Amino acid sequence: MINKLLTVVGTRPNIIKITQFGRVVRQHPHLEHRLLHTGQHYSHNMSDAFFAELGLRNPDYQLSAGQGSVISQMGTMMQGIEGAVREYKPDLMLVVGDVNSTLAAALVANKMGIRLAHVESGLRSFDRAMPEENNRILTDAITDVFFVTEQTGIDNLLKEGKTHSQIYFVGNTMIDTLVAYQAQIEQSRVLAQLNLEPRTYALMTMHRPGNVDTREGLEKLLDIINDLSKETRIVFPVHPRTLNRFKEFGLYEQVATNKNLVLMEPAGYLDFQNLIQHARFVITDSGGIQEETTYGQIPCLTLRPNTERPSTIALGSNTLLGFDKERIMAAVQSIYQGTYKKCQIPPYWDGKATERIFEAINQL
Ligand code: UD1
Ligand code: UDP
Repeated sequence: MINKLLTVVGTRPNIIKITQFGRVVRQHPHLEHRLLHTGQHYSHNMSDAFFAELGLRNPDYQLSAGQGSVISQMGTMMQGIEGAVREYKPDLMLVVGDVNSTLAAALVANKMGIRLAHVESGLRSFDRAMPEENNRILTDAITDVFFVTEQTGIDNLLKEGKTHSQIYFVGNTMIDTLVAYQAQIEQSRVLAQLNLEPRTYALMTMHRPGNVDTREGLEKLLDIINDLSKETRIVFPVHPRTLNRFKEFGLYEQVATNKNLVLMEPAGYLDFQNLIQHARFVITDSGGIQEETTYGQIPCLTLRPNTERPSTIALGSNTLLGFDKERIMAAVQSIYQGTYKKCQIPPYWDGKATERIFEAINQL
Protein backbone atom coordinates (compact mmCIF):
# COMPACT_ATOMS: atom_id res chain seq x y z
CA MET A 1 0.00 0.00 0.00
CA ILE A 2 1.19 3.50 -0.84
CA ASN A 3 1.27 6.00 2.02
CA LYS A 4 4.09 8.43 1.31
CA LEU A 5 4.29 10.31 -1.97
CA LEU A 6 7.02 12.59 -3.28
CA THR A 7 6.19 14.75 -6.31
CA VAL A 8 9.04 16.44 -8.20
CA VAL A 9 8.56 19.61 -10.25
CA GLY A 10 11.07 22.02 -11.77
CA THR A 11 9.54 24.22 -14.45
CA ARG A 12 6.58 26.51 -15.13
CA PRO A 13 4.46 23.86 -16.86
CA ASN A 14 5.26 21.29 -14.13
CA ILE A 15 3.90 23.63 -11.47
CA ILE A 16 0.74 24.29 -13.46
CA LYS A 17 0.12 20.53 -13.79
CA ILE A 18 0.16 19.79 -10.03
CA THR A 19 -1.96 22.60 -8.57
CA GLN A 20 -4.74 20.24 -7.47
CA PHE A 21 -2.50 17.60 -5.85
CA GLY A 22 -2.58 19.16 -2.39
CA ARG A 23 -6.38 19.55 -2.39
CA VAL A 24 -7.03 16.00 -3.61
CA VAL A 25 -4.48 14.40 -1.27
CA ARG A 26 -6.42 15.87 1.66
CA GLN A 27 -9.40 13.71 0.58
CA HIS A 28 -7.25 10.62 1.28
CA PRO A 29 -6.19 10.91 4.95
CA HIS A 30 -3.84 7.92 4.82
CA LEU A 31 -1.72 9.61 2.12
CA GLU A 32 1.16 11.90 2.99
CA HIS A 33 2.44 14.10 0.20
CA ARG A 34 5.60 16.15 -0.14
CA LEU A 35 6.68 18.39 -3.00
CA LEU A 36 10.23 18.92 -4.24
CA HIS A 37 11.10 21.80 -6.59
CA THR A 38 14.43 21.35 -8.37
CA GLY A 39 14.79 25.08 -9.15
CA GLN A 40 15.27 24.39 -12.89
CA HIS A 41 13.09 27.46 -13.39
CA TYR A 42 14.11 30.05 -10.83
CA SER A 43 13.05 33.54 -12.00
CA HIS A 44 10.17 34.88 -9.93
CA ASN A 45 7.83 35.07 -12.93
CA MET A 46 8.68 31.49 -14.04
CA SER A 47 8.17 29.85 -10.64
CA ASP A 48 7.43 31.57 -7.29
CA ALA A 49 4.79 33.81 -8.83
CA PHE A 50 2.68 30.73 -9.66
CA PHE A 51 2.88 29.39 -6.09
CA ALA A 52 1.77 32.79 -4.82
CA GLU A 53 -1.09 33.55 -7.20
CA LEU A 54 -2.44 29.98 -7.23
CA GLY A 55 -2.31 29.75 -3.43
CA LEU A 56 -0.01 26.71 -3.39
CA ARG A 57 1.90 25.59 -0.33
CA ASN A 58 5.65 26.16 -0.68
CA PRO A 59 7.66 23.09 -1.70
CA ASP A 60 8.86 20.90 1.17
CA TYR A 61 12.25 20.65 -0.55
CA GLN A 62 13.66 23.49 -2.65
CA LEU A 63 16.81 22.90 -4.71
CA SER A 64 18.71 25.53 -6.70
CA ALA A 65 19.62 23.56 -9.79
CA GLY A 66 18.81 26.17 -12.43
CA GLN A 67 22.29 27.46 -13.27
CA GLY A 68 25.12 25.97 -15.32
CA SER A 69 25.15 23.38 -18.07
CA VAL A 70 22.37 20.83 -18.46
CA ILE A 71 24.71 18.16 -17.11
CA SER A 72 25.65 20.08 -13.98
CA GLN A 73 21.97 21.04 -13.51
CA MET A 74 20.89 17.41 -13.69
CA GLY A 75 23.72 16.33 -11.39
CA THR A 76 22.68 18.92 -8.79
CA MET A 77 19.06 17.85 -9.14
CA MET A 78 19.89 14.16 -8.69
CA GLN A 79 21.98 14.79 -5.57
CA GLY A 80 19.28 16.98 -4.03
CA ILE A 81 16.52 14.50 -4.85
CA GLU A 82 18.63 11.69 -3.39
CA GLY A 83 18.87 13.64 -0.12
CA ALA A 84 15.09 14.12 0.02
CA VAL A 85 14.46 10.44 -0.72
CA ARG A 86 16.89 9.34 2.04
CA GLU A 87 15.20 11.59 4.55
CA TYR A 88 11.52 11.08 3.59
CA LYS A 89 11.60 7.49 2.25
CA PRO A 90 8.61 7.82 -0.11
CA ASP A 91 6.66 4.74 -1.28
CA LEU A 92 6.06 6.35 -4.68
CA MET A 93 7.67 9.17 -6.61
CA LEU A 94 5.51 11.19 -9.02
CA VAL A 95 7.13 12.99 -11.93
CA VAL A 96 5.39 15.26 -14.42
CA GLY A 97 5.82 16.06 -18.11
CA ASP A 98 9.04 15.92 -20.08
CA VAL A 99 11.59 18.38 -18.72
CA ASN A 100 15.11 17.72 -17.43
CA SER A 101 13.81 17.69 -13.84
CA THR A 102 11.43 14.87 -14.81
CA LEU A 103 14.25 12.67 -16.06
CA ALA A 104 16.60 13.52 -13.18
CA ALA A 105 13.94 12.48 -10.65
CA ALA A 106 13.09 9.33 -12.60
CA LEU A 107 16.73 8.25 -12.58
CA VAL A 108 16.98 8.78 -8.82
CA ALA A 109 13.80 6.75 -8.21
CA ASN A 110 15.18 3.95 -10.37
CA LYS A 111 18.60 3.89 -8.70
CA MET A 112 17.11 4.04 -5.19
CA GLY A 113 14.44 1.40 -5.75
CA ILE A 114 11.47 3.77 -5.39
CA ARG A 115 8.35 3.03 -7.45
CA LEU A 116 7.86 5.67 -10.12
CA ALA A 117 4.65 7.15 -11.55
CA HIS A 118 4.76 9.44 -14.59
CA VAL A 119 2.00 12.00 -15.12
CA GLU A 120 1.54 12.79 -18.85
CA SER A 121 3.36 9.64 -19.94
CA GLY A 122 3.32 8.06 -23.39
CA LEU A 123 3.31 11.27 -25.44
CA ARG A 124 5.67 11.03 -28.42
CA SER A 125 6.66 13.58 -31.09
CA PHE A 126 8.93 10.95 -32.73
CA ASP A 127 11.49 13.74 -33.05
CA ARG A 128 14.67 12.77 -31.21
CA ALA A 129 16.17 16.21 -31.93
CA MET A 130 13.89 17.55 -29.16
CA PRO A 131 15.37 17.22 -25.66
CA GLU A 132 11.85 16.64 -24.36
CA GLU A 133 11.34 13.57 -26.59
CA ASN A 134 14.45 11.95 -25.13
CA ASN A 135 13.28 12.85 -21.62
CA ARG A 136 9.88 11.24 -22.29
CA ILE A 137 11.29 8.03 -23.74
CA LEU A 138 13.95 7.62 -21.05
CA THR A 139 11.53 8.39 -18.23
CA ASP A 140 8.88 6.00 -19.52
CA ALA A 141 11.50 3.26 -19.93
CA ILE A 142 11.89 3.17 -16.12
CA THR A 143 8.36 4.15 -15.04
CA ASP A 144 6.16 1.66 -13.16
CA VAL A 145 2.79 3.46 -13.28
CA PHE A 146 1.65 5.49 -16.28
CA PHE A 147 -0.91 8.30 -16.07
CA VAL A 148 -2.00 9.20 -19.58
CA THR A 149 -3.68 12.33 -21.00
CA GLU A 150 -4.80 11.06 -24.41
CA GLN A 151 -5.37 7.83 -26.33
CA THR A 152 -2.07 8.05 -28.27
CA GLY A 153 -0.25 7.86 -24.94
CA ILE A 154 -1.77 4.42 -24.35
CA ASP A 155 -1.07 3.30 -27.92
CA ASN A 156 2.59 4.39 -27.73
CA LEU A 157 3.20 2.73 -24.36
CA LEU A 158 1.64 -0.57 -25.49
CA LYS A 159 3.83 -0.51 -28.61
CA GLU A 160 6.84 -0.03 -26.31
CA GLY A 161 5.95 -3.19 -24.39
CA LYS A 162 4.12 -1.74 -21.38
CA THR A 163 1.04 -3.59 -20.16
CA HIS A 164 -2.57 -2.42 -19.80
CA SER A 165 -2.42 -3.04 -16.05
CA GLN A 166 0.28 -0.35 -15.65
CA ILE A 167 -1.58 2.33 -17.65
CA TYR A 168 -4.33 4.65 -16.36
CA PHE A 169 -6.19 6.94 -18.78
CA VAL A 170 -6.81 9.74 -16.29
CA GLY A 171 -7.07 12.84 -18.50
CA ASN A 172 -5.19 16.09 -18.22
CA THR A 173 -4.14 17.70 -14.94
CA MET A 174 -3.34 20.96 -16.77
CA ILE A 175 -7.05 21.19 -17.58
CA ASP A 176 -7.83 20.51 -13.88
CA THR A 177 -6.01 23.75 -13.12
CA LEU A 178 -7.97 25.66 -15.74
CA VAL A 179 -11.27 24.38 -14.37
CA ALA A 180 -10.29 25.05 -10.75
CA TYR A 181 -9.23 28.67 -11.36
CA GLN A 182 -11.77 29.69 -14.04
CA ALA A 183 -13.57 32.21 -11.80
CA GLN A 184 -10.26 33.90 -10.92
CA ILE A 185 -9.16 33.84 -14.57
CA GLU A 186 -12.30 35.77 -15.48
CA GLN A 187 -11.47 38.42 -12.88
CA SER A 188 -8.08 39.22 -14.44
CA ARG A 189 -7.86 42.86 -15.59
CA VAL A 190 -5.07 42.14 -18.08
CA LEU A 191 -7.00 43.19 -21.19
CA ALA A 192 -7.78 46.60 -19.72
CA GLN A 193 -4.19 46.97 -18.51
CA LEU A 194 -2.85 46.29 -22.00
CA ASN A 195 -5.60 48.31 -23.68
CA LEU A 196 -6.88 45.32 -25.66
CA GLU A 197 -10.36 44.45 -26.92
CA PRO A 198 -11.47 40.79 -26.91
CA ARG A 199 -10.92 38.89 -30.21
CA THR A 200 -8.82 41.66 -31.77
CA TYR A 201 -5.34 40.33 -31.01
CA ALA A 202 -3.17 37.24 -31.41
CA LEU A 203 -1.32 35.80 -28.41
CA MET A 204 2.18 34.50 -29.11
CA THR A 205 4.71 32.40 -27.18
CA MET A 206 7.92 30.90 -28.54
CA HIS A 207 10.68 29.07 -26.69
CA ARG A 208 11.66 25.77 -28.37
CA PRO A 209 15.45 25.60 -28.89
CA GLY A 210 14.77 24.42 -32.47
CA ASN A 211 12.96 27.71 -33.16
CA VAL A 212 14.80 30.31 -31.10
CA ASP A 213 18.36 29.13 -30.50
CA THR A 214 19.74 30.17 -33.90
CA ARG A 215 19.93 33.55 -35.62
CA GLU A 216 18.23 32.00 -38.66
CA GLY A 217 15.30 30.80 -36.54
CA LEU A 218 14.88 34.16 -34.85
CA GLU A 219 15.07 36.00 -38.17
CA LYS A 220 12.30 33.78 -39.56
CA LEU A 221 10.26 34.48 -36.45
CA LEU A 222 10.77 38.22 -36.88
CA ASP A 223 9.67 37.99 -40.50
CA ILE A 224 6.48 36.20 -39.44
CA ILE A 225 5.84 38.72 -36.67
CA ASN A 226 6.35 41.64 -39.07
CA ASP A 227 3.85 40.28 -41.59
CA LEU A 228 1.27 39.18 -39.02
CA SER A 229 1.42 42.42 -37.09
CA LYS A 230 0.41 44.42 -40.20
CA GLU A 231 -3.15 43.14 -39.68
CA THR A 232 -3.28 41.87 -36.12
CA ARG A 233 -1.96 43.21 -32.86
CA ILE A 234 0.30 40.57 -31.29
CA VAL A 235 0.72 40.09 -27.54
CA PHE A 236 4.02 38.34 -26.85
CA PRO A 237 5.07 37.41 -23.30
CA VAL A 238 8.69 36.47 -23.90
CA HIS A 239 10.23 33.35 -22.34
CA PRO A 240 13.67 34.04 -20.77
CA ARG A 241 15.41 31.68 -23.22
CA THR A 242 13.97 33.66 -26.15
CA LEU A 243 14.73 37.05 -24.61
CA ASN A 244 18.35 36.00 -24.06
CA ARG A 245 18.66 34.84 -27.67
CA PHE A 246 17.12 38.04 -29.11
CA LYS A 247 19.71 40.00 -27.14
CA GLU A 248 22.64 37.70 -27.98
CA PHE A 249 21.95 37.97 -31.72
CA GLY A 250 21.40 41.75 -31.57
CA LEU A 251 17.78 41.39 -32.72
CA TYR A 252 16.00 42.69 -29.63
CA GLU A 253 15.63 46.27 -30.92
CA GLN A 254 13.77 44.99 -33.96
CA VAL A 255 11.09 43.31 -31.87
CA ALA A 256 10.97 46.02 -29.25
CA THR A 257 10.24 48.76 -31.80
CA ASN A 258 7.35 47.03 -33.59
CA LYS A 259 4.37 49.22 -32.68
CA ASN A 260 1.76 46.51 -33.20
CA LEU A 261 3.56 44.08 -30.90
CA VAL A 262 2.90 44.13 -27.17
CA LEU A 263 6.11 42.73 -25.75
CA MET A 264 5.92 41.69 -22.11
CA GLU A 265 7.61 39.61 -19.41
CA PRO A 266 6.32 36.05 -18.89
CA ALA A 267 2.75 36.50 -17.72
CA GLY A 268 1.17 35.16 -14.54
CA TYR A 269 -1.15 32.17 -14.92
CA LEU A 270 -4.48 33.97 -14.42
CA ASP A 271 -3.56 36.81 -16.79
CA PHE A 272 -2.18 34.42 -19.37
CA GLN A 273 -5.31 32.24 -19.38
CA ASN A 274 -7.45 35.36 -19.66
CA LEU A 275 -5.34 36.42 -22.65
CA ILE A 276 -5.82 32.98 -24.26
CA GLN A 277 -9.55 32.99 -23.69
CA HIS A 278 -10.05 36.41 -25.33
CA ALA A 279 -7.55 36.00 -28.18
CA ARG A 280 -8.63 35.80 -31.82
CA PHE A 281 -6.03 33.07 -32.11
CA VAL A 282 -2.85 31.82 -30.45
CA ILE A 283 0.47 31.26 -32.20
CA THR A 284 2.95 29.16 -30.24
CA ASP A 285 5.47 26.34 -29.99
CA SER A 286 4.48 25.44 -26.42
CA GLY A 287 3.28 21.96 -25.51
CA GLY A 288 0.77 22.90 -22.83
CA ILE A 289 -0.73 25.84 -24.71
CA GLN A 290 -1.81 23.47 -27.52
CA GLU A 291 -3.95 21.75 -24.87
CA GLU A 292 -5.30 24.86 -23.15
CA THR A 293 -6.43 26.34 -26.48
CA THR A 294 -8.09 23.06 -27.42
CA TYR A 295 -9.99 23.09 -24.15
CA GLY A 296 -11.05 26.71 -24.74
CA GLN A 297 -11.73 26.07 -28.48
CA ILE A 298 -9.46 28.97 -29.45
CA PRO A 299 -7.62 28.46 -32.78
CA CYS A 300 -3.99 27.52 -32.11
CA LEU A 301 -1.31 27.77 -34.80
CA THR A 302 1.68 25.71 -33.72
CA LEU A 303 4.98 26.62 -35.35
CA ARG A 304 6.54 23.17 -35.12
CA PRO A 305 6.87 20.30 -37.61
CA ASN A 306 5.35 17.78 -35.17
CA THR A 307 3.50 17.47 -31.91
CA GLU A 308 3.52 14.92 -29.09
CA ARG A 309 -0.13 15.91 -28.47
CA PRO A 310 -1.90 14.74 -31.65
CA SER A 311 -5.37 14.81 -30.07
CA THR A 312 -5.13 18.61 -30.18
CA ILE A 313 -4.93 18.29 -33.98
CA ALA A 314 -7.34 15.39 -34.54
CA LEU A 315 -10.00 16.62 -32.10
CA GLY A 316 -8.89 20.04 -30.96
CA SER A 317 -8.31 23.55 -32.27
CA ASN A 318 -4.64 23.11 -33.09
CA THR A 319 -2.93 23.20 -36.52
CA LEU A 320 0.72 22.35 -37.15
CA LEU A 321 2.34 24.84 -39.52
CA GLY A 322 6.09 24.83 -38.96
CA PHE A 323 7.85 28.10 -39.81
CA ASP A 324 6.05 28.31 -43.15
CA LYS A 325 4.84 31.88 -43.62
CA GLU A 326 2.45 31.16 -46.48
CA ARG A 327 0.70 28.40 -44.55
CA ILE A 328 0.55 30.60 -41.45
CA MET A 329 -1.02 33.47 -43.38
CA ALA A 330 -3.52 31.10 -45.04
CA ALA A 331 -4.52 29.74 -41.61
CA VAL A 332 -4.94 33.28 -40.28
CA GLN A 333 -7.18 34.14 -43.24
CA SER A 334 -9.34 31.08 -42.56
CA ILE A 335 -9.74 32.25 -38.94
CA TYR A 336 -10.82 35.72 -40.10
CA GLN A 337 -13.18 34.24 -42.71
CA GLY A 338 -14.78 31.88 -40.20
CA THR A 339 -13.74 28.73 -42.07
CA TYR A 340 -11.17 27.48 -39.52
CA LYS A 341 -11.94 23.93 -38.35
CA LYS A 342 -14.42 23.22 -35.57
CA CYS A 343 -13.22 21.23 -32.61
CA GLN A 344 -14.05 19.01 -29.65
CA ILE A 345 -12.56 18.56 -26.19
CA PRO A 346 -10.66 15.26 -25.82
CA PRO A 347 -12.01 12.58 -23.45
CA TYR A 348 -11.41 13.04 -19.70
CA TRP A 349 -10.25 16.64 -20.06
CA ASP A 350 -12.87 17.52 -17.51
CA GLY A 351 -11.12 18.86 -14.42
CA LYS A 352 -11.02 15.49 -12.63
CA ALA A 353 -7.71 13.97 -13.75
CA THR A 354 -6.02 14.58 -10.39
CA GLU A 355 -8.88 12.79 -8.61
CA ARG A 356 -8.41 9.81 -10.94
CA ILE A 357 -4.67 9.75 -10.30
CA PHE A 358 -5.10 9.52 -6.54
CA GLU A 359 -7.88 6.91 -6.85
CA ALA A 360 -5.46 4.83 -8.93
CA ILE A 361 -2.66 5.33 -6.38
CA ASN A 362 -4.99 3.97 -3.69
CA GLN A 363 -5.27 0.75 -5.65
CA LEU A 364 -1.53 0.18 -6.11
C1 UD1 B 1 12.34 24.04 -20.24
C2 UD1 B 1 12.06 22.62 -20.73
C3 UD1 B 1 11.01 22.68 -21.84
C4 UD1 B 1 9.78 23.41 -21.36
C5 UD1 B 1 10.15 24.77 -20.81
C6 UD1 B 1 8.93 25.40 -20.21
C7 UD1 B 1 13.92 21.01 -20.71
C8 UD1 B 1 14.86 20.26 -21.57
N1 UD1 B 1 13.25 21.99 -21.32
O1 UD1 B 1 12.88 24.77 -21.33
O2 UD1 B 1 10.64 21.36 -22.20
O3 UD1 B 1 8.91 23.58 -22.45
O4 UD1 B 1 11.14 24.62 -19.79
O5 UD1 B 1 9.02 26.78 -20.13
O6 UD1 B 1 13.77 20.70 -19.54
N2 UD1 B 1 15.88 30.97 -17.63
C9 UD1 B 1 15.76 32.05 -16.78
N3 UD1 B 1 14.90 31.95 -15.73
C10 UD1 B 1 14.17 30.83 -15.49
C11 UD1 B 1 14.31 29.75 -16.36
C12 UD1 B 1 15.17 29.83 -17.43
O7 UD1 B 1 16.39 33.07 -16.97
O8 UD1 B 1 13.40 30.81 -14.52
C13 UD1 B 1 16.81 31.08 -18.78
C14 UD1 B 1 18.23 30.64 -18.41
O9 UD1 B 1 19.11 31.37 -19.18
C15 UD1 B 1 18.25 29.19 -18.87
C16 UD1 B 1 17.36 29.25 -20.12
O10 UD1 B 1 16.35 30.21 -19.81
O11 UD1 B 1 19.52 28.75 -19.15
C17 UD1 B 1 16.72 27.95 -20.49
O12 UD1 B 1 16.10 27.35 -19.35
P1 UD1 B 1 15.91 25.75 -19.29
O13 UD1 B 1 15.14 25.40 -18.06
O14 UD1 B 1 17.20 25.06 -19.54
O15 UD1 B 1 15.07 25.45 -20.57
P2 UD1 B 1 13.73 26.08 -21.08
O16 UD1 B 1 13.96 26.66 -22.43
O17 UD1 B 1 13.11 26.94 -20.03
N1 UDP C 1 2.14 30.28 -19.41
C1 UDP C 1 2.00 31.33 -18.50
N2 UDP C 1 2.56 32.54 -18.81
C2 UDP C 1 3.22 32.77 -19.98
C3 UDP C 1 3.37 31.68 -20.89
C4 UDP C 1 2.83 30.46 -20.56
O1 UDP C 1 1.38 31.16 -17.44
O2 UDP C 1 3.69 33.88 -20.20
C5 UDP C 1 1.58 28.96 -19.07
C6 UDP C 1 0.73 28.32 -20.14
O3 UDP C 1 -0.59 28.77 -20.11
C7 UDP C 1 0.83 26.86 -19.77
C8 UDP C 1 2.28 26.74 -19.33
O4 UDP C 1 2.66 28.05 -18.93
O5 UDP C 1 -0.02 26.57 -18.67
C9 UDP C 1 3.09 26.25 -20.51
O6 UDP C 1 4.42 26.45 -20.26
P1 UDP C 1 5.50 26.51 -21.42
O7 UDP C 1 4.89 26.94 -22.69
O8 UDP C 1 6.61 27.31 -20.87
O9 UDP C 1 6.00 25.00 -21.47
P2 UDP C 1 5.59 23.73 -22.35
O10 UDP C 1 4.15 23.45 -22.12
O11 UDP C 1 5.94 24.05 -23.76
O12 UDP C 1 6.48 22.67 -21.82
